[in-house]
Amino acid sequence: MAPTADTGRDEREVGRVTSVSSYRLTVLLDPRIRSQVRAYPQRLGVVTQIGGYLLFPVAPGDLAVGIIVGASEDESIEPDAERGMTLQLGLARRILRLNLLGQLFEDRSFVPGVSIYPTLDTPALLPTEDELKRILEFRPQEPEKDEDTALPVGVSPIYLRQEVTVSYNDLLSRPLGIIGNTGSGKSYSVASFLQGACRLEGAKASQAKFIILDINGEYGKASRSLSSAEPIEETSKDLNRVYINGSPFFLPLWTFNLTELIAFFEASQASQVPVLERVITSLREEAVDPEPVRDLRRLIHVVDQCLECLGSLSAYAAEQQGTAVADNASEVLSYLLQHASGLEELANKRVHLPEKIKQIKAEGEAIYSAGLKTVDEYRRMRSSKDWTNFNRMEPNVSKAVRKFIEDLEPKFHRLRQDVMTKGGLREVTADSPVKFDVRGLEQDALFHIAISRFRGQERIQEYVATLRLRIHRQLSDKRWSVFIQGSEDFETIIGRVCGSDDARVVVIDCSMMAYDALPFFCAVLGRFVLDLRAHGKAGERTVQPFVLVLEEAHNYLRPRREDESAGVQLSREAFERIAKEGRKFGLSLIIASQRPSDVSATVLSQCANFLVHRIQNPDDIDYFKKILPTGSRDLLDQLPILAPGDGLLIGSAVNVPARVQIKKPNPAPSSATPKPWQAWQKDKQKFGLKESISSWLQDHGDGSS
Ligand SMILES: Nc1ncnc2c1ncn2[C@@H]1O[C@H](COP(=O)(O)OP(=O)(O)OP(=O)(O)O)[C@@H](O)[C@H]1O
Ligand SMILES: [Mg+2]
Repeated sequence: MAPTADTGRDEREVGRVTSVSSYRLTVLLDPRIRSQVRAYPQRLGVVTQIGGYLLFPVAPGDLAVGIIVGASEDESIEPDAERGMTLQLGLARRILRLNLLGQLFEDRSFVPGVSIYPTLDTPALLPTEDELKRILEFRPQEPEKDEDTALPVGVSPIYLRQEVTVSYNDLLSRPLGIIGNTGSGKSYSVASFLQGACRLEGAKASQAKFIILDINGEYGKASRSLSSAEPIEETSKDLNRVYINGSPFFLPLWTFNLTELIAFFEASQASQVPVLERVITSLREEAVDPEPVRDLRRLIHVVDQCLECLGSLSAYAAEQQGTAVADNASEVLSYLLQHASGLEELANKRVHLPEKIKQIKAEGEAIYSAGLKTVDEYRRMRSSKDWTNFNRMEPNVSKAVRKFIEDLEPKFHRLRQDVMTKGGLREVTADSPVKFDVRGLEQDALFHIAISRFRGQERIQEYVATLRLRIHRQLSDKRWSVFIQGSEDFETIIGRVCGSDDARVVVIDCSMMAYDALPFFCAVLGRFVLDLRAHGKAGERTVQPFVLVLEEAHNYLRPRREDESAGVQLSREAFERIAKEGRKFGLSLIIASQRPSDVSATVLSQCANFLVHRIQNPDDIDYFKKILPTGSRDLLDQLPILAPGDGLLIGSAVNVPARVQIKKPNPAPSSATPKPWQAWQKDKQKFGLKESISSWLQDHGDGSS
């Protein structure tokens, strides 16, 4: 392509294309360029630095943009003037490897993707200041021009004066991964993004909402100025406590759903889970039922048990084979009779009830006695036949069983419905967020009632003994006190997690929590926030989106493993759900972690953007390469040498993958690296050995010993 005089392109030419293969290019540098830095009108240009950009004119006013991913030098032998092949002094051939990223059209913003490829011998040009701006600065495009803005995140370490800006919406509405070794700048970057997002253009983003799981207790200071309504005091913190914006916070066990409680108490599926479920449900029911209708709840329980029996019977009746079926069906039938007598007993207890409820009870009795009659008939029928030969059940018996079920089932359902609605009972399950006294989990009576519901009670009693022991232990262990204490109601708890109206940043400081309590806390909190968003009015779920920041995510968001603990599994699943579904409910994630291979791949694969700081371990780099799109992988080779705060920003929020020196946050998080030389001087403060030991002993005083 002929150089155009007006733009002075030939001035900017640094070499020519020597090979093109899909998005990869090589450029042979002009042998006259001896230095890495080249002067051209207005500025200096770094020619061969990895991460720099070169432009290739592919059509009039149309430039393909490539990023330098490698450089090499070899020697060539050139024929001398007489065309002989005498050996000359080595002529250096310097070659740049580039990946194509997108196109720049005259006076227009950068467009990702390339429609016209450079051909062999196309000149490689250094970008002008204006072109760099268009490459590294995001500009919102129609039709979203008024809905998005550019968020400055830092400057390019390659083009020193050039600011790097990203799409505000893209960065904060989809999961963002911040990865890097310890001390590489992750926490600083998180704080910098938060401050940038909240302070951009004054108080415009006054409704921003960041919820930080602050595992190291670093963000109090950094977010103080962003939460004017709730100034965060730097007070001393107690062990095993959680603090939200500086004040103690509890997440009592009644806020857990059944799955979380099963994991918390390590209940084994087969025998302990059904009992635990019953106990939890009873505790919640007791809490919502007003005194006069408690009796009705028992009625409901009996009806439910009858319905369960009918369900099993219907399954057995459909089954035509096997004596086991016969045994089971017979057993279920006697349970049904037993429960039915319970119902009768209940109905006979003439407790003082309001008229309306008495009436329902009378109806219930009528239905019940009709059912009893059928059950009796069936029993008679059964005794007249050879019951053990159920597997060769005569068609008329089988028909009778079905009819019996068909007759009784809808009646029980109707009774249930009536009791619930007319008696004013609330449908409560083991998952309902109904507050109950956590100490209630230690009641013997509740367990006895729960166990009596199940067949083979004696064995269950034995299995449940270990569960009860565990419950007692956990409830008296100080390390779990966040889950045991606390008297706030559900609304207040959720309200504190989301912060007051003008708290743009909610810092949930979990730094004093025990290592094994942390995943449970994070899991329940994560579920809370997603459930809350998901329960928003349809059509309004994306109103005032929230961003959840997961610091040190490798502690509670690990990849799936066969031997993972119940808590880790729970929190992994909670955050994987947020990563997959959060976007449509207006909930995004920022995940900061030291090792990509220690974080759930499901979550990382949902990240639309990554900020990658220094990573030294080659295995980690290789692992990370697999997550990234092919075009960006070559860039990762520079990761081991990045300085603190220097990172590679990759994803849909930036026009092009870009090296960025992230803006230093002000105030900075309390994550400073110790300075031994200064700190070990004679007059400096000493480590509080005594205080540390006493708080350690206090922690283990009566709890976990
Ligand atoms: N953008 C930045 N500008 C200036 N200095 C920075 C920047 N980022 C990091 N640093 C320096 O690096 C130090 C460590 O940074 P930071 O605490 O963010 O690391 P980290 O990656 O979060 O480490 P860890 O994994 O241990 O939490 C900071 O105390 C600061 O001195
Ligand atoms: Mg950190």
